[in-house]
Amino acid sequence: MAQHTVTLIPGDGIGPEIAQAMTRVVGASGVDMVWEVAEAGLGVMDEYGTPLPRYVVDSVRKNKVAIKGPVTTPVGTGFRSINVALRKELDLYVNLRPALSIPGTGARYEDVDIVIVRENTEDLYAGIEFAKGSRGAQRLAHLVAEEDAGIIRPDAGISIKPITVTASERIVRWAFEYALANDRHKVTAVHKANIMKFSDGLFLEVARRVAAEYEGRIAFEDRIVDATCMGLVLYPHDFDVLVLPNLYGDIVSDLTAGMVGGLGMAPGANIGRDCAVFEAVHGSAPDIAGKGIANPTAIILSATMMLHHLGEHEAAERVTGAIRRVYASGEHVTGDIKRTVTGSAAGAATTREFTDAVVAAMR
Ligand code: NAI
Repeated sequence: MAQHTVTLIPGDGIGPEIAQAMTRVVGASGVDMVWEVAEAGLGVMDEYGTPLPRYVVDSVRKNKVAIKGPVTTPVGTGFRSINVALRKELDLYVNLRPALSIPGTGARYEDVDIVIVRENTEDLYAGIEFAKGSRGAQRLAHLVAEEDAGIIRPDAGISIKPITVTASERIVRWAFEYALANDRHKVTAVHKANIMKFSDGLFLEVARRVAAEYEGRIAFEDRIVDATCMGLVLYPHDFDVLVLPNLYGDIVSDLTAGMVGGLGMAPGANIGRDCAVFEAVHGSAPDIAGKGIANPTAIILSATMMLHHLGEHEAAERVTGAIRRVYASGEHVTGDIKRTVTGSAAGAATTREFTDAVVAAMR
């Protein structure tokens, strides 16, 4: 059996508690895993002068695979989000967020199985912004007027939305390759090309061109983002793999997470050409940190994505099956889910009790 060395970034808040639960479950799945622990976040700030020390990035680069607990981003301290920094450093251009309903979690929808493939590097997230009244905003307004492209009022703050052929092509191609490799049938490109002809329009044009290469193997359709939101709520079974520019991907993936039980159940991954970093969608939950009551399901499901990525499909299925069995029995679920299902968290399992139940369900 192959041995895998993976960088483990426990994070802060509930991060270390759920990371510990995850390593226990992965260990019990039978894979031979070596965890290279690399601390990042608030706790290392004093020692290294940065929340993301060089050695953390070097460790991910070397091992090519990492799994990460959430990291607190304090507001208004100039502390850069380490998630954004990691994405940029390692060019993790894919944000993969599956939404799969698990019976027994009180999810609003049963049998939902949707995969969101979100572009992770450009769009309104590129961070190209001009403050109201700044020289840049004034010059831009002047240029727009000169080009006869419209009027920007002097009291406007401006964010730029770049969409490139390069980034659109690689994300759409990734979505189709994912669909092929994972027995999926359809890719839906989501956009607002009827209004933003040169940014979303370009994304759509590229998506159609790439889709043509997969004709006969994977079906393709495109949908406007607002209609997509309504369609997801009304007819979730119409959807399979969705590929979206950054901002729509961010919003629509929260919608699909909500459909299948909320943040405690939502796994994710940031993937690039060379490296992949797996993590839960939720944050560090400072309100419950240290209490031993956090739900580790999202990071454990992220670990199953990681196991698939490493080719350990059987171990991944073993873990997913155990999680399903624990929720189906309803006996050892954490407070967040217990409250959703029964209206009260009374008698809920701790993180440890839930983890014990998952490990026992694998035997
Ligand atoms: P959050 O996701 O940490 O918490 C929102 C609510 O959900 C809280 O009531 C929390 O107790 C609950 N919750 C979250 N995860 C849970 C779990 N596994 N089990 C049970 N309950 C859970 O979002 P919030 O409060 O907006 O962010 C807290 C911090 O986390 C912020 O500093 C934010 O920047 C950071 N954050 C980090 C992320 C990452 O590292 N990937 C992602 C999102 C936020």
